[in-house]
Amino acid sequence: MIALGSDHGGFELKREIANYLTERGIPFEDFGTHSPDSCDYPDMAVEPCEAVANGRCDQAILICGTGIGISMAANKIHGIRAAVCSDYFSAKYTRLHNDANVLCLGGRVVGPGLACELVEVFLNTPFEGGRHSGRIEKLMKLEEK
Ligand code: RB5
Repeated sequence: MIALGSDHGGFELKREIANYLTERGIPFEDFGTHSPDSCDYPDMAVEPCEAVANGRCDQAILICGTGIGISMAANKIHGIRAAVCSDYFSAKYTRLHNDANVLCLGGRVVGPGLACELVEVFLNTPFEGGRHSGRIEKLMKLEEK
């Protein structure tokens, strides 16, 4: 189950991604925003990230204008490892090496075609484990600071 969320800057791209997931039969829950009216990205990150943190959803895709603000908000929530990606290599390696559980995209940065490719590789790439596992443990311990 994929959690989707955006502010107004990501509203259009979220619709494209929702269509893409629907076409592929990938289940998702859309946590909004549900209109192009202005809203605040920190608010929009909370529910989808909590759904990932509590196990109701497996991963989240969050979108704001740049992807940056909503990724900063997401990474403040315990258990979340969010990565902003606008290239294929990063979307792949943030799964392989960082075990990212939230993909953040910039609705004003990437077009829908590239965004869907990034979603595809993010959702289909497993965590590599091995030497990266200890680094993830160290990363998550930083939440205690
Ligand atoms: C909203 O105008 C914009 O600031 C927001 O979508 C995002 O890009 C922030 O990082």
